Amino acid sequence: MEIKYELKDKSQRRTEPLKPNEPLPFGVLRTDHMFIMDYEDGQWKNARIVPYGDIPIAPGATTLHYGQAIFEGVKAFQHDDGEIYTFRLDKNAQRMNRSADILCIPNIPEEIQIEAVHALIDIDRLWFPHQEGASLYIRPFIFATQDSLGVHPSSSYKFMVILSPSGPYYPAGFTKPIKLLITEKFHRAAPGGTGSSKAAGNYAASLKAGEFAKEFGASQVLYLDTTNIYIEEAGAMNHFHITREGDVVIPEFVDSVLRSITSESIIELADTLNINVTQKRVKIKEFIEAVKNKNITEAGGLGTAAVISPVGEYVFEDATSITVGNGEVGEVTKKIYEYYTGIQTGKVEAPKGWLQKVERRK
Ligand code: PLP
Ligand code: COI
Repeated sequence: MEIKYELKDKSQRRTEPLKPNEPLPFGVLRTDHMFIMDYEDGQWKNARIVPYGDIPIAPGATTLHYGQAIFEGVKAFQHDDGEIYTFRLDKNAQRMNRSADILCIPNIPEEIQIEAVHALIDIDRLWFPHQEGASLYIRPFIFATQDSLGVHPSSSYKFMVILSPSGPYYPAGFTKPIKLLITEKFHRAAPGGTGSSKAAGNYAASLKAGEFAKEFGASQVLYLDTTNIYIEEAGAMNHFHITREGDVVIPEFVDSVLRSITSESIIELADTLNINVTQKRVKIKEFIEAVKNKNITEAGGLGTAAVISPVGEYVFEDATSITVGNGEVGEVTKKIYEYYTGIQTGKVEAPKGWLQKVERRK
């Protein structure tokens, strides 16, 4: 793929690395440039890196009316050798195409998605954050641009990548477990729907549930399946629990659950970590019983942004609650988190292919 560069004037670009004390809330800061590519006349073309800024869009664009849009979330890390490495970007590129299939969006070859991200990071490498626990959050996304109010797949699209230097998801550190609300009122996704894709609309549909959870002091909803029998997801994360014997259980990837790359990675690391990780349908009633009688001792969410969010308490709509273990971060959770973030930051040897160095090209 040939990328055209229309870069900001050097005098307007970042000229020195981000300061270690610069505030870095998750997902707020942007870098100098962005990547764009168009889909028109049946092909992806016109790959370019341009200054970050607003883009023109037709008021009748399909994405604004019918939400034909998908995205990914990936991270890059700077290691002690000074180089930047993307983490499992190939898996995200694969999943982008799976989401594209579900939303009738044309695929983009994985190597083109990877090249787009690496070329952009290379240009904006001075934006890499150096604080403890910080990373570069990468947001590739595709949206429909055809100016047409008919409900049908758009004939044109844009693929874009933006970067966000981000501090740790939980600035207070990995010390304070979150609360989840158990409710039958909201469902994230239905069988045969778009739940296994990263469709923008899935997140719009989850906002009300998130706000409802906050009324109970919880940060998110524990989503159940539409029959209210099985656990599906922990807000915008996969869910996991750990039994008294130390076994990790992740709900099965049915078609209303997103196939989390964090979950898949932990499953792949099971032997190395010497833990048993299984996937199965988890009944909410049995889960609650097991938390109460301490057969389940740890639980939480899994996702790129936070890696692991330990859950200390599940609350109910009648304001009662159950505490997981002693409500603190558990030993197995800690062990997984430390090993996983060790791989990402280059402190622990990564399985082959998990980290890809961003080569210097400009
Ligand atoms: N489930 C949902 C609904 C998500 O939005 C995410 C976030 O990306 C995840 C799970 C975790 O996936 P991953 O580990 O690939 O970030
Ligand atoms: C995650 O990466 O864990 C997410 O849930 C992504 C979110 C910011 C949409």
